[in-house]
Amino acid sequence: MIETAGLTKEYPGVTALDRLDVTVGEGVTGLVGANGAGKSTLIKILLGLVPATGGTARVLGHDVATDGGRIRSLVGYMPEHDCLPADVSASDLVVHLGQMSGLPYAAARERASDVLRHVGLAEERYRPIGGYSTGMKQRAKLAQALVHDPRLVLLDEPTNGLDPSSRDDMLSLVRRIGTEFGIAVLVTSHLLGELERISDHVVVLDGGRLLQSSATTDFLHATGSLLVEVQGRHDADQVLGQALVDAGLAARPAGDALIEVDIRDERTADVVRDLAVDLGLGLVRLQERHHRIEDVFREGGAGSVQPT
Ligand SMILES: Nc1ncnc2c1ncn2[C@@H]1O[C@H](COP(=O)(O)OP(=O)(O)O)[C@@H](O)[C@H]1O
Ligand SMILES: [Mg+2]
Repeated sequence: MIETAGLTKEYPGVTALDRLDVTVGEGVTGLVGANGAGKSTLIKILLGLVPATGGTARVLGHDVATDGGRIRSLVGYMPEHDCLPADVSASDLVVHLGQMSGLPYAAARERASDVLRHVGLAEERYRPIGGYSTGMKQRAKLAQALVHDPRLVLLDEPTNGLDPSSRDDMLSLVRRIGTEFGIAVLVTSHLLGELERISDHVVVLDGGRLLQSSATTDFLHATGSLLVEVQGRHDADQVLGQALVDAGLAARPAGDALIEVDIRDERTADVVRDLAVDLGLGLVRLQERHHRIEDVFREGGAGSVQPT
């Protein structure tokens, strides 16, 4: 779907993207990074809206430097910031944008009605957007990204500004676009926790550089750990900790009777359990901890998380 090679964007005094090599395939891909990491810059370059200053990128086989118009006809885009006209209804806006994408009026009306229903905008779609809640505006932005039946959508922070329940609805909707509608999705967020729920693949950007790109399950294994609490003897945590290290796992003390073990694969928890049994120790707690994005950044490069 997307392939970049050495993609670089320099703004005066800022390198927004730094020699980025990334590949995005079918399904839902989460693009994660703190504010300023370069997510929106990457999306605008992929759409041919902003020129790169180095490297290359192809979207659906088309070169972003020369085929921006073609790419935008095949790709849907949900921009990050509020960009909707206040005095137009969502229905009129989506019909209009459908026509601009080349659909005849009747087809644009039909498609607009379908996509507005899919995103859950009901009767309010005939009212001016100026009176919408943030959640409704985000839905209208999503609907216009889908109206021309794209093969790929680029969704820039679709959960921005939403309360927790609207956030969950939006995430489920994004997931459904990828699964039920079969449209490839690249979705950004500064929250890893949101994207790991709905993405097949996660790409992490930090300061314009690729920190990691991997299947979501591998990502969780690479960044997750287990918190283990043992009892049975006064030095139970040391005994089990040593046994885990001997078994080739990365384990370290994590406080009173607690050990933290890096998750190596889906069998890691079984190894901990079996060793505790062998040593005659009681497991009080075996709890999975997923690192937050901040932890990934802190460990990036030096620790267990390496760009792949
Ligand atoms: N038009 C611009 N002019 C100058 N600097 C910019 C411009 N757009 C983005 N930047 C800078 O590029 C970096 C990446 O920004 P952005 O792509 O918006 O990050 P993100 O979407 O991950 O928050 C930031 O340091 C930002 O300040
Ligand atoms: Mg952004």
